[in-house]
Amino acid sequence: MNTIDNVNLIEIPKVHDERGILAVIEKEVIPFDIKRVYYLYDIPSDAYRGGHAHKGLRQFLIPLSGSFDVIVKDGNDEKKIMLNKPNKGLLIVSGIWRELENFSSGAVCLVLASDVYDETDYIRDYEEFRLLKSR
Ligand code: TYD
Repeated sequence: MNTIDNVNLIEIPKVHDERGILAVIEKEVIPFDIKRVYYLYDIPSDAYRGGHAHKGLRQFLIPLSGSFDVIVKDGNDEKKIMLNKPNKGLLIVSGIWRELENFSSGAVCLVLASDVYDETDYIRDYEEFRLLKSR
């Protein structure tokens, strides 16, 4: 079963020259095939997002602009990771509760997902999540 130790920052390879930086995500960078891409923007600084876990979905979060905090929980432990570098993304495996907060002005969060949107894959109740993890 996944724990927060399976949630890790992954460095995105980049090509840097005097014209700027080009970061590239090819199939070796993240351990799933991308089936969906979405992004969060125009986020109020006091917004709280996430607040759920996924049964099967895996996601890779990239702070394209600005910064925000991601809190991940596995029912026993938790950790907070600040995302603030466009070439460092966070791999969130399945079965992990996540909360996103403390968005800077102009923050943009790009999400690469291993599957299409499916509400039945969500666990939106924390107590239900804890129960599932303790089984
Ligand atoms: P949700 O996943 O709860 O957002 P967050 O985790 O960022 O707080 O989704 C918010 C709303 O958007 C919810 O009504 C479902 C809808 N939604 C889609 O229609 N398609 C998608 O791909 C996603 C991620 C959400």
